[in-house]
Amino acid sequence: MKIIIHGGFFSESGTNQEVKLSKQESLKKIAQQGYDYLQTHSAAETVVYTVALLEDDPLFNAGTGSQIQSDGCIRLSASLMDGKTHKFSGVINVEEVKNPIYIAQMLQSAEDRVLSGKGAQQYARENGFEYYNPEIPQRRQEYETKLNNSIRLGTVGCVALDAEGNLAAATSTGGKGFEIPGRVSDSATAAGNYANGFAAVSCTGVGEDITSGGLATKIVTRVTDGMSLQQATEKTLTEMKPFDGFAGIIALTANGDVHYADTHPYMVWAAYDNGVKIFN
Ligand code: GLY
Repeated sequence: MKIIIHGGFFSESGTNQEVKLSKQESLKKIAQQGYDYLQTHSAAETVVYTVALLEDDPLFNAGTGSQIQSDGCIRLSASLMDGKTHKFSGVINVEEVKNPIYIAQMLQSAEDRVLSGKGAQQYARENGFEYYNPEIPQRRQEYETKLNNSIRLGTVGCVALDAEGNLAAATSTGGKGFEIPGRVSDSATAAGNYANGFAAVSCTGVGEDITSGGLATKIVTRVTDGMSLQQATEKTLTEMKPFDGFAGIIALTANGDVHYADTHPYMVWAAYDNGVKIFN
């Protein structure tokens, strides 16, 4: 059993030391909670549970505490891929909900498995997801003062390998902040979140770069075709160099290989590897 989580990127210039330490502490705690949960749950259940914890922590740009878009609204995107069933589900730009990852989980059994905007919100309300405002005062203050001193690259994600050898990946984001309403992140696409019986990957970074690089799907496909996880990741990230792609990945294989990599400093992550803690 293994679990690895990420909490997006630290901005070299824009993240103060106190926030860095708080994020690291939170990630350690949540990785432990996720690992404990994995003892009695499947990989798919665990990645949802763990991403919901990250969504609820206002330090991270997903769920509560998400970035505000250019029109003053928050829109959330999240997805789940169960490597056992090979099903991808997700929501794109859903508003006024607490945990978009739970909507993605519910959509696993639906015929239409990726919903966006108003349709996603209507589906959520019809299925018991109550009104919730994910805004926190600090984000509103940053928005009002147009605080633009950092690259706002926040996304959270989790990849898990369960006791039966099944893999799953889940990813959630509030987007990049100040974006045009309607802009689609990578987080609820197969480029940002992908899993099968061989490997599982969750990405963070610039959504446009991640989709241009087809990251998660490409890494998983390469591992499926026989490449090692490290080689598959290196090759895929190297292919982003011509367009200076900005991304980070966390990944696991069914053989138990754990890997993380980023193209720029520094993705923040934490892992539990058969009980052995690994932290950045
Ligand atoms: N990776 C998150 C985003 O670009 O929206």
